[in-house]
Amino acid sequence: MCSMPTPPWARSAAGANTYDAATATVLPTIYERTTAAAMTHGGINLGQGFPDADGPQWLREAAAEAISTNAGPTNQYSPGPGFPWFREAVAAHQRRFYGVELDPQDQVLHTTGATEAIAATILAFAPAGSEVLAFEPFYDSYGAIAALAGAELKTVPLRAPEFRPDIAALEAAVTERTSMILVNSPHNPTGAVFTREELEAIVGIAAAGGAVVMSDEVYEHLMLDDAAGHSTILSIPGADQVAVAIGSAGKSFSVTGWKVGWVTGSARLVNQVRGVKQFTTFCTGGAYQYAVAQGLQDDRGFFAQNQAELRAGRDLLAAGLAEAGLRVFSPDAGYFVLADVRGVTPKTAAEFAAELVSAAGVGAIPVSSLTLPSTQHNPEDELNYLLRFAFCKRHDVLADAIGRLSDWLG
Ligand SMILES: Cc1ncc(COP(=O)(O)O)c(C=O)c1O
Repeated sequence: MCSMPTPPWARSAAGANTYDAATATVLPTIYERTTAAAMTHGGINLGQGFPDADGPQWLREAAAEAISTNAGPTNQYSPGPGFPWFREAVAAHQRRFYGVELDPQDQVLHTTGATEAIAATILAFAPAGSEVLAFEPFYDSYGAIAALAGAELKTVPLRAPEFRPDIAALEAAVTERTSMILVNSPHNPTGAVFTREELEAIVGIAAAGGAVVMSDEVYEHLMLDDAAGHSTILSIPGADQVAVAIGSAGKSFSVTGWKVGWVTGSARLVNQVRGVKQFTTFCTGGAYQYAVAQGLQDDRGFFAQNQAELRAGRDLLAAGLAEAGLRVFSPDAGYFVLADVRGVTPKTAAEFAAELVSAAGVGAIPVSSLTLPSTQHNPEDELNYLLRFAFCKRHDVLADAIGRLSDWLG
């Protein structure tokens, strides 16, 4: 059983490593704390995963136009599942990129970013007392929401250097209490892209164990290595019976503040997620839905251009970190480079990150904040020595960060 007899707010905070037991209060997320520390020390924030450059002008103009002309119309409540043309655009996007056919009527659900999609999905499918399996490190909201649901998050580690999912370990972790398997591919923070074979195996394990798969695919358009090849889980045979996929415009179009997300899957599973989602916000962001619908139908070359810039940023940052003495793991996708700090310090990544931001003014996220407390308490675990640096920043900012880090390390 889940052993946290605390009120829901404290459970949720503890699940994401943001419960301060000494004061019985909630801390801001690790991203907010790192951002604040970087600002305090006049430094550079390579912690939070948001781009320096806003998304394309035409996309932003479409949202502005929707607000000022009430195109859509978008200034009043949308239907709970999202505007019909938004759902059609998501369905068309899934067909175009993955050959997946979805009925926009009942197989697509708009959400307030992937964050709401994650919350609604876990709350929909993880009963209190059940177990939710995730690969570790995991996006922090998984831990918060699983705990809020009263479920226990159990993890299967992704190990350097390749961070591939250990399918045998996942299978061994399934018990009769397993309600869900959480997949995040492309993965934050490792940048691992799960292969079709891996996804097939995960779907098979879920089907055999009666679990629902939540596949968080928010980094789908941030592919930096074409050979890695991202597949939505719904393109895997049989997945429609057990899996829902989550997407987000924030990362795809460099508009993380817009919070436009979606859930896709079978009509049955999407309907069940709706059971929660329509009472968390009901609906949001009509004008943003309007703009994103246009972008999903035609990105006007933005995805490829963004990938090229990110690739260059990744290579610049990875080379600089390696030069400074860190062991670097170059990702196939996403916004982040992981680096093992053991080449330059005996300290943990969390201790090193605290010094790095105060002494050198460079903010980075210790991967341990995306792990379970049991992992954090194990000094042998390599996840305690990995730091996450975001490279979705201007190249002069990355160069400045590398310079400061190198100077500080001497
Ligand atoms: C893996 C993962 N899922 C979900 C989200 C949240 O997405 P959104 O901003 O659309 O809520 C993020 C944001 O960093 C993420 O990294």
